[in-house]
Amino acid sequence: MKKENSLRKRAQLESLIWHVNSCQPKPGERIVDFGAGSGHLGLLVAFLYPDCEVVLVEPNAVRYETSISRAKELGLGNCTGFMGTLDEFAMVDEEGSAGCWEEDPVDPNR
Ligand SMILES: C[S@@+](CC[C@H](N)C(=O)[O-])C[C@H]1O[C@@H](n2cnc3c(N)ncnc32)[C@H](O)[C@@H]1O
Repeated sequence: MKKENSLRKRAQLESLIWHVNSCQPKPGERIVDFGAGSGHLGLLVAFLYPDCEVVLVEPNAVRYETSISRAKELGLGNCTGFMGTLDEFAMVDEEGSAGCWEEDPVDPNR
């Protein structure tokens, strides 16, 4: 990664963490990363808040798979994924259905 790009990514992560910290997430709360891409932001949040559930919502299959395999590699058992759009995720959530993010949690031992 070019230095310029790494500085930009670092600023993005710092800004995100500042915001998440200001929300003071409590143990057991769910934090949803909409448009998670390959997981840069959500994985860091899952690492910093191991007592919260972090859901990575991403419709692009390649990016989704990358984010989930990174979560597994990092052993982030509090991180789950939903492959779909924000609207699809909201629908599943509203219906109270388990959805794939609960049926298919990231199991670090898989
Ligand atoms: C600019 S990327 C950001 C990726 C990541 N959050 C990051 O900062 O590195 C935006 C992501 O949003 C996803 N996306 C686009 N439309 C979406 C939607 N309706 N619901 C959820 N994600 C969406 C895209 O597939 C893409 O991976």
